[in-house]
Amino acid sequence: MIHEESDNIPEVLREKSSLDEESSVTLRPGRLDEYIGQNAIVETLKIAIEAALQRKEPLDHILFNGPPGLGKTTLAHIIANEMGTRIITSSGPALEKGGDLMGILTHMEKGDVFFIDEIHRIPKIVEEFLYPAMEDFAVDFIFDKGVHARTHRYRLEPFTLIGATTRAGLLSSPLRERFGITRDLDFYDEKDLVRIVERSAAILGIAVDREGAFEIARRARGTPRVANRLLKRVRDYAQVRAKGKITRDVAVGALALERIDEYGLGEMDRKLLKTVILNYKGGPVGIEALASTLQIETDVLLDVVEPFLLKSGFIIRTSHGRKATEKAYSHLDMPHRGEPGLFESARGKKRS
Ligand code: ADE
Repeated sequence: MIHEESDNIPEVLREKSSLDEESSVTLRPGRLDEYIGQNAIVETLKIAIEAALQRKEPLDHILFNGPPGLGKTTLAHIIANEMGTRIITSSGPALEKGGDLMGILTHMEKGDVFFIDEIHRIPKIVEEFLYPAMEDFAVDFIFDKGVHARTHRYRLEPFTLIGATTRAGLLSSPLRERFGITRDLDFYDEKDLVRIVERSAAILGIAVDREGAFEIARRARGTPRVANRLLKRVRDYAQVRAKGKITRDVAVGALALERIDEYGLGEMDRKLLKTVILNYKGGPVGIEALASTLQIETDVLLDVVEPFLLKSGFIIRTSHGRKATEKAYSHLDMPHRGEPGLFESARGKKRS
């Protein structure tokens, strides 16, 4: 509901805007057929889009969940493209008041895609507006206050809401339940990342051989955005230090300068693992304590740094906090304390 007198409706209608990395715009696939990886999600979307187009109806609301850089925003743009509609983009933190949302919703045209990035950060008061908007394509205005209060239901054009989040768990269940399609994006395997690097290199006119592409792909943390960023750094290096062509040796040299190791770990990842091992005896350590020792925000640790370390088995999450694994000890060349099992039982005995 909205109090009309207290909220003026701002000019927040934006079309095809706020792409997070300008330079990646051209690298982003525009159609589902060009999209590499996430095969099951792509298949679901192809079917849902074709069915909606046949029925001449807007697509169901869609929620994408997963770590940054895996393609949530790209997919939202592709969906609008495939549906032949506009896309209006915003983000949870940008929608501060009910009026911010109203300004967008009341300008929506039939079938438009409304993309909300970081939807888990939408204020509660704004979220409550979304419920009737998503369910009935309507919003409720309140005129006056107290005994004179009257409500007016304002009809909206049918639209598709696409939400992106790195933490679906933080969404309230009423919001989560209003999405017809919910999908988790997972890290990409090396094979798909090689294809992405080769596709991006072709678009940018960079010469890269298969081994060069593989070397970039395997250090890309399972993330296309990282792969494209590394590709650009390696391109610079190839141009200045080699003959312009990206080979395995060129990629290895360039990425060593970037201090990215063969697992794709950077300075922050190694600092985190060393902190768990040295400051917290390998863990378990709570996320807040870790964030404060590393002097980074807990959200950044949870959303950006930790997911790949968990996925690639350098840390594990226990009910008491994060623990470094044997893989972390050996990767950092740090002294092991025997098998994790033995270590565990020794500590267990000590405590009891
Ligand atoms: N560029 C970035 N992500 C991509 C993907 N999934 N497929 C093709 N090109 C990409």
